[in-house]
Amino acid sequence: MLWPYTRSLGCAEGQPGSNPSAIAQIRLRRGNGGLSVLSDTQLIETLAHFPRERIPERFKTVHAKAAGAWGEFEVLHDCSDLTDALLLNAVGKKTPVLARISTVAGEKGSSDTVRDVRGWAMKVFTEEGNQDFVFNDLPVFFIRDPIKFPSMNRSHKRHPRTNVPDNNMFWDFHVNNQEGIHALMHLFGQRGIPASLRHINGYSVHTYTMNKEDGSFKYVKWTLRPEDGIETLPSDVALRLAGEEPDDQIKDLFNAIERGEYPRWIVYVQVMSSEEAASAPIDIFDNTFTWPHREYPLRPLGRLTLMQNPNNYFQEIEQAAFSPSNMVPGIGPSADLVLQARIFSYPDAARYRVGPNYQQLPSNRPRSKVYSPYERDGPGRIDGNYGGDPDYVQSSLQPLRVSTRHAVPTHEQWNGHVVQHSTEVTDKDFEQPRALWEIICSEKDGQMQFLDNIVPTLLGIKHELLVRALDMFARVDPDIKHLLEAEIQRRGSEKSGASPNQTQKYSVAT
Ligand code: HEM
Repeated sequence: MLWPYTRSLGCAEGQPGSNPSAIAQIRLRRGNGGLSVLSDTQLIETLAHFPRERIPERFKTVHAKAAGAWGEFEVLHDCSDLTDALLLNAVGKKTPVLARISTVAGEKGSSDTVRDVRGWAMKVFTEEGNQDFVFNDLPVFFIRDPIKFPSMNRSHKRHPRTNVPDNNMFWDFHVNNQEGIHALMHLFGQRGIPASLRHINGYSVHTYTMNKEDGSFKYVKWTLRPEDGIETLPSDVALRLAGEEPDDQIKDLFNAIERGEYPRWIVYVQVMSSEEAASAPIDIFDNTFTWPHREYPLRPLGRLTLMQNPNNYFQEIEQAAFSPSNMVPGIGPSADLVLQARIFSYPDAARYRVGPNYQQLPSNRPRSKVYSPYERDGPGRIDGNYGGDPDYVQSSLQPLRVSTRHAVPTHEQWNGHVVQHSTEVTDKDFEQPRALWEIICSEKDGQMQFLDNIVPTLLGIKHELLVRALDMFARVDPDIKHLLEAEIQRRGSEKSGASPNQTQKYSVAT
């Protein structure tokens, strides 16, 4: 029989294949039944590849579910006073970008419309290597001592015994790590559930630096704002969509790009000198604080446009690996300890998840020339492996030039002792959440929605945790505690008899 395919089928190493539904076998009779043979390479290859076709989900399901697309970054304004990064050095210059926008806590098959932070990862393919921006859609983070990161995530995910998200764990973590109150206020506000990925902000959360070869530098925080504005979903609509259309936001982004409605964001920085940082009203190395816009206004730099869907999701998006450690000359880190821990953690995760040669895959491969002959061999090497070039440093057989434009961390001078330190929560941690509460109260239905979002997660948790959670909110504003108490009492009496997590409408996650 001739197969109606235009392309001829074959095994992975190119041998012509036979009928893909048939297997080689010794048949006993004309009916079913027989013995298969080990020499059927097509069968064995097909079956053996299948259980290996998934790579580990990102960091055991952190940021596992995502949409991704290709696009470009265009410089709109001169910023040569801040940086000599080539990607930013001429108005009108365009550089290709790969973006991946994710939820954080849900597994790969989870719903898009959960209350959660959205991860905002971008790889900009510049002529001096890849510049990655690994941001979130909320401006602050839940912790500032990076060693707490695995604990925080576990408390937001599945209970080790019951295997379901557990509000006792969630609040147990947060009442005992109250530096996260600012991020919690954002999470339970209207922006906790975006209406679409095309209408979310992006924030670097950390302070970074912009610098020049002469050694001068400024501290910056990055912000992306969608040109078409922010749109959010009311909880009841989100809850319905979570059941009816769990892939709603992935479809929305994909279909908009297919229709030619390209989503666009303006990219800004807030700027601070090191002298200003010394007297700033906030600690710029603490990612639980924002920089007030009045003192540190947003300065527009350029525009990000997403205009091309992946041709193959797995190859282009799943195998993409983003990392805050990927910085080009002109852009640098700061002394934010969470950022520094992340600089280690992402390439470490990529080597485990995708393999040690993940940088050679199409989504990660720099478009600029690469020569790093001291990283050799390993599974999946496909770039020629530097042939016979020396694989050790200081070879006189093949002397090398070294660029003066390597990314230098441009901190001030640091001098001190190594100490074991963890941060403490003070009244200052409640000041920005208090200002946010005032904004929430000034928004239409803001206060009512905030209560509506948070109360279901408090209903039924252990009494001592409830008391401490309410006291934590009282430190933001005593009104929040009173409003929550009244609402819990009202709903509790309506639902008397319900067991703790029966009242949970959706999982709360970061
Ligand atoms: C101590 C703090 C943190 C640690 C240790 C950490 C670690 C990780 C790891 C290991 C991954 C998975 C990477 C992979 O498998 O490819 C990940 C994903 C991600 N993280 Fe973090 N993270 C931290 C905080 C943050 C913060 C503050 C942000 C935002 C400002 C952030 C944004 C993201 C994003 C956007 C992704 C998904 C990247 C992608 O699309 O591949 N993370 N994080």
